[in-house]
Amino acid sequence: MTEKILKSKLLLRGLEIFPPIALAPMVGLSHSALRTLVQEEGGIGLLFTEMLEAGRLPHDNQRCSPLLVRSPGEFPLFYQLVTSDEEAIERAAEKLHDFQAQGVDLNLGCPAPQQRKQGAGLALTENHPQMCKVLRRLRACTNLPVSVKIRLGSTLDDFCLKALCHLLEDEGVDLITVHARLNGEKFCRRPRWKVVGKIRDAVTIPILINGGIFSVDDARKSLEQSGADGLMIGRGAVEQPWLCADIAREIYGMPIRCRPRSDVEIYFKFVTFLEQRFAPERQLGRLKQFTTYYAAPFTFGHHLASSIQSSTTIDQAKRRAADFFARNV
Ligand SMILES: Cc1cc2nc3c(=O)[nH]c(=O)nc-3n(C[C@H](O)[C@H](O)[C@H](O)COP(=O)(O)O)c2cc1C
Repeated sequence: MTEKILKSKLLLRGLEIFPPIALAPMVGLSHSALRTLVQEEGGIGLLFTEMLEAGRLPHDNQRCSPLLVRSPGEFPLFYQLVTSDEEAIERAAEKLHDFQAQGVDLNLGCPAPQQRKQGAGLALTENHPQMCKVLRRLRACTNLPVSVKIRLGSTLDDFCLKALCHLLEDEGVDLITVHARLNGEKFCRRPRWKVVGKIRDAVTIPILINGGIFSVDDARKSLEQSGADGLMIGRGAVEQPWLCADIAREIYGMPIRCRPRSDVEIYFKFVTFLEQRFAPERQLGRLKQFTTYYAAPFTFGHHLASSIQSSTTIDQAKRRAADFFARNV
């Protein structure tokens, strides 16, 4: 292994992460079926669940809740919590030990109004005393790695962003993911990887760069511009479940075979994973959400997306998808 590759291994409280490539937490997308699909393609070093309400988690049943379904191969898996309440995070973290979590992530970047109303997600970064209380309680009740996911702030202000990162490190956070967009910016806006470069040296803990990585070239540029220690990929890994494998091979020198790809095979593998893991009434919604992204790169992808969107059963969706791939690929 070259020195560069050795250096790119992340070590979080004894947990080794290599390659330093994570699948992002995404509501409705980062469930067991997608995590397994991306992991089977290769090149993933860290998985996240979608955000889970910390207050609800202790009442959820791991065997029935679709948010908690997990297969044994999904490792290492960090569970992402969202809350502004220190009691809730403690109870949720205790539950996560029962679930054999490898780490706990606190969502500090969600701008959704329902989270804002509760002072959670992004809003918690605007209330430093409460944010520190929550993190302190979490740190005190677990020896698992603790990570957070943040955005750049409400305006471009290196000083504020550095102060936030310092605070996070001081509260015992082991890993920070930075979604390189300002608080109010939409996902279609170009990410600001260079801004992360300006604050990278403010902390000694590893930083993952996130936002707008859809190719090996994007991955390379985002790492160069941000100086980050690794990557987190969201929509790019849904559009191309093999993207992390390509990045791991091209950037981190992993010996992952570059094999001919079959778009239809990958799509139906995902369907099978859905069918194996979820009750029938939970499958179609998840297939619709996946297809919105997976269909995007195809020339006539909008036909696939709209025909799956209007399907009323999983069997109908499968027939329509088979038709599409037979005609277009
Ligand atoms: C459908 C969807 C759901 C998301 N849900 C979450 C979430 O639960 N928690 C979170 O921290 N970020 C969430 N995000 C944000 C992503 O984790 C990521 O920061 C964002 O998509 C930018 O990365 P990308 O350009 O690689 O997709 C979500 C994004 C999308 C598109």
